[in-house]
Amino acid sequence: MDVDTGVDDALALLLALASPEVELVGVSTVAGNVPLHRTTDNTLRLLQWAGRGDVPVYAGAERPLVRDAVAADDVHGATGLGAAQLPEARNSPAGDGVEFLLNTLQTRPGEVTLVATGPLTNLARAEAQVPGVLRQARQVVIMGGAVRVPGNITPTAEFNFYADPHAARQVLASEAKLVLVGLDVTDQIWLKQVDLQACTGAYAAFCRAACEPVIAFESAHYGFAGMHVHDPVALGAALWPQLFRMQQLWVDVETSGELTAGQVVVDQRALASDQERLGRPVTCAVEVDQTHFLALFTERVLAS
Ligand code: RIB
Ligand code: CA
Repeated sequence: MDVDTGVDDALALLLALASPEVELVGVSTVAGNVPLHRTTDNTLRLLQWAGRGDVPVYAGAERPLVRDAVAADDVHGATGLGAAQLPEARNSPAGDGVEFLLNTLQTRPGEVTLVATGPLTNLARAEAQVPGVLRQARQVVIMGGAVRVPGNITPTAEFNFYADPHAARQVLASEAKLVLVGLDVTDQIWLKQVDLQACTGAYAAFCRAACEPVIAFESAHYGFAGMHVHDPVALGAALWPQLFRMQQLWVDVETSGELTAGQVVVDQRALASDQERLGRPVTCAVEVDQTHFLALFTERVLAS
């Protein structure tokens, strides 16, 4: 997993740890919701707290490829883990995040599913260093973009793609086996505060504290006492693809627009030949079985 932990990244990591289908090979971190030193420390603390200090963490890019770094600490809190307090990490990062991606993909070609839930800076840098390396992944599942729905950080862009649009463009243009899990589906899933309060599992108290400021932000901005769980939905697309409807769409990413940087531009013109289309064909999640996903997520992360 490549993460910018972040509250929903933390929920996705807990879902991975609670899922028997998953062998979590390692985690690379990237600057995003909060600066790199925090996303890395949060990931180390979380894995240690969950009893999985054996999973190695690798620190990646501390800034986007071109644009200045942005953050979302207004949503995830100053630490990036909301109001949750976890014990200090005893472990340090095991190495460099981009090196981790390169080594893992090249030594285990076709075996490893890469799930990216932050800005795509590490993936873009790996592909630039070794062109074609992302194609060695069994699948690259990306939480990012808003294909046919509004953005969240701006009217046109989703946060991960907005934070590093050049990286998003380069990764989508790679020949990797991509699955794009954007706001088109992640905005369809709400974790209700009332359901979160009712949970009693070992992770529940941490989740309530971590989610507190995110729910406060989303309640204030969207008028709903709950929160989106973007990153767990992306992992869900890797674990339970049968819960999603996918569509192949020709897409590219705007990198420089004043109002549109990070926007996913989809070419749906009624053309006779796809060869004329802009961008590249990418498998995009367009629908999700909300009830079933939430039941699985709740059972594994909040009730277990
Ligand atoms: O737009 C939602 C995405 O941006 C999630 O991955 C969240 O953690 C932030 O990184
Ligand atoms: Ca994230």
